[in-house]
Amino acid sequence: MDRQDELETRIEVLKKDRKAVILAHNYQIPEVQDLADFCGDSLELARKAKESDAEVIVFCGVHFMAETAAILSPDKTVLLPDEDAGCPMADMATAADLARLKDEHPGAAVVCYVNSTAEVKARSDVCCTSSNAVEVVSRFDGSREVIFVPDRYLGAHVERETGRKLILWPGYCPTHARLSSDQIADARSRYPGAPVIVHPESRADVCLAADEVRSTGGMVKFAREAGVKRIVVGTETGLLHRLKKENPGVEFIPLSDGAVCPNMKLITPEKIMWALEDMEPRITVDPEIARKALVAVERMLQGPVMGVS
Ligand code: 13P
Ligand code: SF4
Repeated sequence: MDRQDELETRIEVLKKDRKAVILAHNYQIPEVQDLADFCGDSLELARKAKESDAEVIVFCGVHFMAETAAILSPDKTVLLPDEDAGCPMADMATAADLARLKDEHPGAAVVCYVNSTAEVKARSDVCCTSSNAVEVVSRFDGSREVIFVPDRYLGAHVERETGRKLILWPGYCPTHARLSSDQIADARSRYPGAPVIVHPESRADVCLAADEVRSTGGMVKFAREAGVKRIVVGTETGLLHRLKKENPGVEFIPLSDGAVCPNMKLITPEKIMWALEDMEPRITVDPEIARKALVAVERMLQGPVMGVS
């Protein structure tokens, strides 16, 4: 038995003992994706965290994702195998700064990308992910101002898709900000005919130069349905493992090998095993903040029908 098999066997035993489920984001390292019970994008993982009847959720992703799971399931123990796995974009918006912006725009609705702290969610009307941001913003009456926090590039994508002007926060994802339209031009000359798909956390010139702008879950669906032999993928490179595994007949080319989120790479099988052994590090949210944040997160999960105009 090699080291990975040994770890997997030990993790299986611990999982049963603890009544645990392992959820992994599409950007996790291949070994983590392969041992997870479920791999998905942010929205799919939030839904799984809410619906699971496990007592323990081992969240293989970054801090805000584990926090969202804790908000949705206060009765479950949520473990993040490496506490340092944060999201720099989530840390670009503080609740105090958002409160000041709200004061400057009384009556504005606040749509908050799920890549945010629980405190920011608690001050927002509704959350969204990259897969439903356009739909969530469209729920609000066109005459109402909308503050979109913290991703300026996802916000700009929503502006282009809806034709609305939003009040954008200046946050961004350092990993996706590395992608460029020059890389797309280069990929098009090297792989003529291959569709280029990019994540909406990318800058405007990148989104506009691409064929499709999709969340990681949307990219998985595109790869399954496109019926092409080669796809250029503009997002964090971890997604390529899942794409290749699910579509063995298709060649996937990363738009940039440099699109790596160091935080997403912090989780390893060893750390998952230690987390299950020690039941640490636990992610908890102050109950009062969690109560307010839950309203915004639940609205996101409820879908289009909700009274927030
Ligand atoms: P999605 O999986 O929702 O596309 O999100 C990407 C991301 O950056 C998560 O941190
Ligand atoms: Fe945050 Fe970007 Fe990493 Fe996603 S890929 S966790 S948005 S830094």
